[in-house]
Amino acid sequence: MLRKFVTLYRHIIDEERKYPDATGELSDLLADIALACKVISLEVNRAGLIDLMGVTGTENVHGEQVKKLDEYAHDTLVRAMEVSGHLCAIASEESEDYIPVNEKFMGERPLSKYIIHFDPLDGSSNIDANISIGTIFSIYKRKSESGPGTLEDCLQQGTNQVAAGYIIYGSSTIMVYTTGRGVHGFTLDPTVGEFLLFYENIKIPKRSKTYSINEGNYTKWSEGLRKYVDDLKSDNKAAGRPYSARYVGSLVADFHRNLLYGGLFMYPGDTKNPNGKLRLLYEANPLAFIVEQAGGRASSGSQRILEIVPLNLHQKTPLFIGSEEDVVEAEKYLKMK
Ligand code: AHG
Ligand code: MN
Ligand code: MN
Repeated sequence: MLRKFVTLYRHIIDEERKYPDATGELSDLLADIALACKVISLEVNRAGLIDLMGVTGTENVHGEQVKKLDEYAHDTLVRAMEVSGHLCAIASEESEDYIPVNEKFMGERPLSKYIIHFDPLDGSSNIDANISIGTIFSIYKRKSESGPGTLEDCLQQGTNQVAAGYIIYGSSTIMVYTTGRGVHGFTLDPTVGEFLLFYENIKIPKRSKTYSINEGNYTKWSEGLRKYVDDLKSDNKAAGRPYSARYVGSLVADFHRNLLYGGLFMYPGDTKNPNGKLRLLYEANPLAFIVEQAGGRASSGSQRILEIVPLNLHQKTPLFIGSEEDVVEAEKYLKMK
């Protein structure tokens, strides 16, 4: 069966037409992101050949080793975003503060009305092992009137997102995005350099048979979480157990598999890291917007991710995300002390 030959740009424009007051700026911005990620994809796929493997020798705000590809992806995205003319501020995992985009880049456009958060390269500890990694982005409308964006523009609740998506650099390069009207996936055809529509209106199964969590942290989990995961591994066929364990260690890879097949991804808080490891603004929120649009659920264990009011750019949150019934069940166990 021949799939519809719909490029990402065609799809974005068709989506834009469904919003009568659309100016085309968001469409333009999404296309700029896709272009930047095509460039990143090229480098990811030949990192070993051009000495982009390994570390830069510097640490980021999280005290993590910055890989050369982390830095390359960050620089590529910032360069592409600055000249887009649609942004007044850029926030990135690899930059301690947000980057206000000043007038010189705003061009003649009336107002650079968006801000963007991104994780330029997620799963970067897996780069040298040739395991799938990805870029995650989240877009909001600015709240300030004009000029360079402000921190307040960047610290908005996830429910304010106007678009979110991720690009996964794996056996093929796939871009998945939503603007609030469903979730759509595109596969990069490198021969023509176009993202072609591959999955329209993705829906995540309500119940799954797969769970993703780093069990190395088991002893640090709460009693309720230990009980839940022990139950998932039990031989209780009537309750559909045991589940399969799948954990890549790249959030984008684990999330993408669970989105398509069904599954529950968990990165909980524990006695050592009460808020877990994942960041609200450029990991949890964009994936929460996507999963809810696909009929799934995303919570911190006690609160809907999209309703968390951010206090700082790099704040962390525990994350339970995926098939709705599995997330609801996990929340019940987490309430048990
Ligand atoms: P990043 O590479 O952007 O820092 O993200 C890494 C994250 C995420 O991709 C993954 O789910 C998680 O780290 C894995 O953490 P553990 O190795 O602690 O399981
Ligand atoms: Mn990440
Ligand atoms: Mn990252």
